Amino acid sequence: MKVLSFGSLNMDHVYRVPDFVRPGETLSTKSLDNICGGKGLNQSTAMARCGAAVYHAGNVGRGEDGGTLIRALSGSGVDTRFVRRLDAPVGHTVIQLSDSGENSILLYGGTNLMVDREQIKEVFSHFGPGDLLVSQNEINLLPEIMEAAHDAKMTIAFNPSPISKEIFDLPLHLADIFFVNEIEAEALAKAGEGEDILTALAKRYPGTMIVETLGKQGALVCKDGKVYRQPAFPVKAVDTTGAGDTFM
Ligand code: RIB
Repeated sequence: MKVLSFGSLNMDHVYRVPDFVRPGETLSTKSLDNICGGKGLNQSTAMARCGAAVYHAGNVGRGEDGGTLIRALSGSGVDTRFVRRLDAPVGHTVIQLSDSGENSILLYGGTNLMVDREQIKEVFSHFGPGDLLVSQNEINLLPEIMEAAHDAKMTIAFNPSPISKEIFDLPLHLADIFFVNEIEAEALAKAGEGEDILTALAKRYPGTMIVETLGKQGALVCKDGKVYRQPAFPVKAVDTTGAGDTFM
């Protein structure tokens, strides 16, 4: 099985702060780290380090950061032949990382939002039945990407993150697996008053396996009406950035 990870590549500018900056406030930061990220890159890296045959598809700029992101992928064993370099600013973020390990992220899409139909056609001509598409909500043309994977009879694993109201314009019913956190589960489920969120989500997307992360409570899988729970291993949170991507 080949894994096609069609997703974002960002240069994360991570600032350590005592607490998140408030409106109207200027806050001095304790440190700055420039780290390779993007939900797509984080997912590809984790899968490849676990031994999967991962092909990343996406776009970066021609500047230094673009090269650094490609080298980070290939250094983890990801095949980068489907990563294009374009004349535009690379995707990047400004991340505030607080002393309690929480983050707050400003995202600039850049080249992540420059996926085109020719690229999709070319990439999917290399994949077929039994292969897996992994994607998230940080690139454009996701409907075309999901439909191309469906036409190629691939399994589709989708992480609706970052959640937005445009997510409902996607052909979500094509996903075989959703990876969601509690906020995303609630948004997708559109549960009625008093209705259990997981039950509502499973009813809205029958046949889709739901994998939900629950922070300290661990994770669960819901499939064909059965729910399986996995407790978490207690740790002291240092930095939760990319935790959901890596879990996926
Ligand atoms: O999920 C964490 C990721 O989200 C970061 O690496 C950042 O680039 C944003 O895309």
